[in-house]
Amino acid sequence: MFSKLAFILCALFCAVVSQPSPEELEPLLVGLDNAPQPEIERRVPLSTNDPTVAPLVDLQVFAPPVTPRNGKSCTVTLLKHTFGDGSYNAPAVVDYIPPTDESCGEVGKWAAISMNLSVYSIGTQYDRLGAIYLSHSEIWRTSSAEPTKTGTIWTTIKDVTHFSPLFSKPGDLMIVFSNIIAPDLLLDGVFDVVLSATFYPPTKLFPSANTADSIIPLSNRDPALPNFFTIQDDVGAVTNVTLPSSAVEAYVEVFCSGNSAEEFWYLNTPDEFVQDFPDSTGLVGKGPFREVQVLIDETLAGVVWPYAVIYTGGITPSNWRPLTSYGAYDQPTYWVDITPFIPILVDTKKQHTITLRVVGQGTTAPTFNSNWFVSGSIHVRTGKTQTTGKITSYRAPALKISTTGGSSAGNTTIWTKVVAHRELAIESELFTSEGKKIVTFSQSLDYTNTAQYADEGWVQWGQQSTVGTTIANHQGKQVLRDAFNYPLSVFSNYSQYEQEFGGYGSEINQTHTRALQPPFGVYRAIQSVQHARGEIGMDNWPGLRHAINGTGATDQTFAYVDGRGESYFRDVAAKNDGWVRDRVWGTLRDANPPVPKEQIFGPGGGPGFRRDLFSG
Ligand SMILES: *[C@@H]1O[C@H](CO)[C@@H](O)[C@H](O)[C@H]1NC(C)=O
Ligand SMILES: *[C@@H]1O[C@H](CO)[C@@H](O)[C@H](O)[C@H]1NC(C)=O
Ligand SMILES: *[C@@H]1O[C@H](CO)[C@@H](O)[C@H](O)[C@H]1NC(C)=O
Ligand SMILES: *[C@@H]1O[C@H](CO)[C@@H](O)[C@H](O)[C@H]1NC(C)=O
Ligand SMILES: *[C@@H]1O[C@H](CO)[C@@H](O)[C@H](O)[C@H]1NC(C)=O
Ligand SMILES: *[C@@H]1O[C@H](CO)[C@@H](O)[C@H](O)[C@H]1NC(C)=O
Repeated sequence: MFSKLAFILCALFCAVVSQPSPEELEPLLVGLDNAPQPEIERRVPLSTNDPTVAPLVDLQVFAPPVTPRNGKSCTVTLLKHTFGDGSYNAPAVVDYIPPTDESCGEVGKWAAISMNLSVYSIGTQYDRLGAIYLSHSEIWRTSSAEPTKTGTIWTTIKDVTHFSPLFSKPGDLMIVFSNIIAPDLLLDGVFDVVLSATFYPPTKLFPSANTADSIIPLSNRDPALPNFFTIQDDVGAVTNVTLPSSAVEAYVEVFCSGNSAEEFWYLNTPDEFVQDFPDSTGLVGKGPFREVQVLIDETLAGVVWPYAVIYTGGITPSNWRPLTSYGAYDQPTYWVDITPFIPILVDTKKQHTITLRVVGQGTTAPTFNSNWFVSGSIHVRTGKTQTTGKITSYRAPALKISTTGGSSAGNTTIWTKVVAHRELAIESELFTSEGKKIVTFSQSLDYTNTAQYADEGWVQWGQQSTVGTTIANHQGKQVLRDAFNYPLSVFSNYSQYEQEFGGYGSEINQTHTRALQPPFGVYRAIQSVQHARGEIGMDNWPGLRHAINGTGATDQTFAYVDGRGESYFRDVAAKNDGWVRDRVWGTLRDANPPVPKEQIFGPGGGPGFRRDLFSG
């Protein structure tokens, strides 16, 4: 009966066509099909226990920022810092001053700004979460590699052009990389961070970027502690906000990630079925569905259905060294157009609020586990006169969500299914210094998560699909479109986890397909397809268990095309701590080339991870 209900709900709500459109996918697929012939690649030994070799190059695949080709530029080192003992919840904070050198160009008139986050670590460490803020607005959410005994280096370049209003003024630059050094837990890897920014003045062919006029942080603005909100209740994080009275456009950019019992939110078990498993299996409840909401004066203004970022220690750490899951070092962000609410937010007669809230599907409050790190910023473009107007149509029906499940004879396998759908459509009439504008913001989102469990929950298969489209139009002009499809499939086997010299393993398929016209910046389409599998062997140490050996293999194809005609394609694979192959092509190849040839081990991959038994 339940599955029939699920079918009826799906028939009603699953009629969304595959997102993005076939026309948007075509250039990505054509580009990938036209790879250059592979070169013969030399390899040199590079072992995790070999002290004589160069550090392992570890990376998350990304499309490099698009910058002027033949113009000037200047690179400024913003910060060098070592995150070691005592760095937990102790960010590095430095003064930021806009660059004055002539080669940097006129402040605020840049064509592009990119940032380079380069980190070196040697030793043993968990994956740690990092974030960068400029004047208390988050500009980058990142995390760390699992280092090796011979050193690991990872470098990520991010386009931060749309934060130009922040870079134009002096401010505080904060970087959080909460690390823990604990010799008794064998955790000794510190993070040596170098953060730089490159400023590109405009050229004839590449004009100054079109950005917001001001950026308002949605963060706790603490001068010394991490600025993201730590959200662990159903209320969320509330910020008092007044927009400039002449605001003509306003967008919220959201950063969010699940942490601790929410790190694997997409594999959490619905409360209705948690009691079917023994406590010892340690399954986490509150179900796998999560929505991050943006509310204005407690009215829903838009939602984010996040892509599941898997960190480098996630599910099976050996899957992600040296090739991480997409988003590990530069997490995706999400846009909500709050322009329809401008008439409310410019009204100074009353205090207005913007709330960032996380909603899960727990049957008791809070609806999700502890905790989520969420922050954001409002990007405002202003005109010349007071903006007035009103919301003319508001439709935000309640989230449709159903949870079903059942078991096979004797409870040997248990299955669950969560299906969710969200529609939202808001229209306003604005009177601005640019004239009358009809502005609309709409979202249509679909979610399905199925899970099967065996061996009392030690073995789990989880498949999740998140697809949707977010669109904003201002007087007939499309100012935002975000069409995405994030399929994820995880098989994890912890059957032998509790045994002496036991272990665990997993196989993961994850795709990130997204066609994004951001409010400020150029259209871009991305498709990342990853397949990873690996196993970890463990010791006999009582208490906290340690990995003593591991194997892992990950391959990825990545395709990027954008509205400037630029492209970036990569076909890359790693196995057992070594690079198997790395081919890069497309117009942006030279800005983010393949790993050096000395790092390529060849088809068999590296030696894998192996550690002497801990005697303590
Ligand atoms: C990024 O910064 C690191 C550390 O300063 C540097 O070695 C590397 O060359 C830079 N990469 C790019 C592409 O600028
Ligand atoms: C927000 O405004 C209300 C009403 O003016 C005030 O009571 C509250 O303290 C403010 N909150 C913050 C975080 O400033
Ligand atoms: C299966 O689990 C359910 C829920 O815990 C329980 O009510 C039922 O008795 C179990 N069935 C068998 C055959 O163990
Ligand atoms: C991942 O994809 C491969 C290739 O399609 C398939 O053989 C494998 O079963 C999939 N694994 C999971 C866990 O989805
Ligand atoms: C889980 O792993 C164990 C140990 O390797 C193996 O015996 C078992 O068949 C695996 N289970 C599944 C469902 O693959
Ligand atoms: C990992 O170590 C265990 C215990 O010594 C051993 O049984 C297992 O075969 C090893 N696995 C690999 C992949 O080397």
